[in-house]
Amino acid sequence: MPGPRPAAGIVRVAVDLGPRSYEVLIGRGLLAATGQEIARLMPNVRAAVVTDTTVAALHLAALAQSLAAAGIDHVVEAVPPGEGSKSLATLATVVDALLAARLERGDVVIAFGGGVVGDLAGFAAAVARRGMRVVQVPTTLLAAVDAAIGGKTGINTERGKNLVGAFHQPSLVIADSGVLDTLPRRTFAAGYAEVVKYGLIGNADFFAWLEANWRGVFGGGSERETAIAEAARAKARVVSEDEREEKGTRALLNLGHTFGHALEAATDFSDRLHHGEAVAIGMALAFAFSAGRGLCAPADAARVVAHLTAVGLPTRIADIPGPPPTLTRLMAAIAQDKKVARGALTFILARGIGRAFVARDVPPDEVAAFLEARLSE
Ligand SMILES: NC(=O)c1ccc[n+]([C@@H]2O[C@H](COP(=O)([O-])OP(=O)(O)OC[C@H]3O[C@@H](n4cnc5c(N)ncnc54)[C@H](O)[C@@H]3O)[C@@H](O)[C@H]2O)c1
Ligand SMILES: [Zn+2]
Repeated sequence: MPGPRPAAGIVRVAVDLGPRSYEVLIGRGLLAATGQEIARLMPNVRAAVVTDTTVAALHLAALAQSLAAAGIDHVVEAVPPGEGSKSLATLATVVDALLAARLERGDVVIAFGGGVVGDLAGFAAAVARRGMRVVQVPTTLLAAVDAAIGGKTGINTERGKNLVGAFHQPSLVIADSGVLDTLPRRTFAAGYAEVVKYGLIGNADFFAWLEANWRGVFGGGSERETAIAEAARAKARVVSEDEREEKGTRALLNLGHTFGHALEAATDFSDRLHHGEAVAIGMALAFAFSAGRGLCAPADAARVVAHLTAVGLPTRIADIPGPPPTLTRLMAAIAQDKKVARGALTFILARGIGRAFVARDVPPDEVAAFLEARLSE
């Protein structure tokens, strides 16, 4: 039964993982075709939509209509929005909902939300009935270009973030770029930092394209689908090469994240600094640090700052509202985040835009001196 088709074309990005391969579909209006796409891949399946209450209020009706049109019987479990839902207690609630709905092993969980819902629902699917299929339907930019692709799922505990989880690849990822229209600008910009990251790691042309086209990406023009597709391709390539983070290829994705995590920890993971904002400052710091070591041209570091600033992202520690983090806390977080091998730290540094590399020989004293100077800017 033909259902409504998205207005624009669909971009299909393949994630090559042998028997666990899947596609990422990107397009404006794709929510309307979600039921059909799932039914084609999984005939006669039943589904549980896991979402958060914010996403449900805005977009659940469209998804439910699409599932109904494709004849997919489904239940809905909506959890509270926010990182707090990545908990053992909420996991128990979600798993119980799957079992109460008498879903079987061949049925499917639809993770409909940002990275929080993707990680939580993905993990619930990994453990319920020893593994059900999951379709990721990301509704934030961050989830569309990062969290929904790659199979990392999990929850937080009192002892730290993402400490309990599983690798569980989705069967399909459906990213409707139009759903991102309702994101607060700050949340969209935070996700955009991860898009920029892919350019800075290994694709200078993509970074230059973003410099020229970011307004279209933010404004919801066709540039948005182009950017999501390029970022998804970059993530898919890395995941294909190093599915379970055993070879170290995936480490490059941590550009900006060592400094970024330290800033998030030092501000208590509060609303003062969203993850993507921390990554933006972290990338600016990684380039400044690289320039300071004579690895990359200062003009490249300046270009990174200029672009992030243009889109409204922070680039300096001083841009974080409230009292500045202390050097002691930042260094403690960095030491905890990174394995310290023979007194040296591992960082992702850059020889230029699009030329990131893993540096395993960074002396902690040098990092401390660098951060001390940045803290007094
Ligand atoms: N698994 C991975 O590989 C991976 C990678 C990166 C991040 N993550 C995880 O992702 C999480 C962060 O994801 P996030 O930034 O998407 O956060 P999120 O899921 O909390 O979403 C951010 C906010 O936006 C709201 N929202 C979602 N979609 C919306 C829409 N279309 N319109 C309006 N509001 C909407 C949500 O309700 C929430 O309040 C973290 O828990 C992080 O650990 C996982
Ligand atoms: Zn990140």
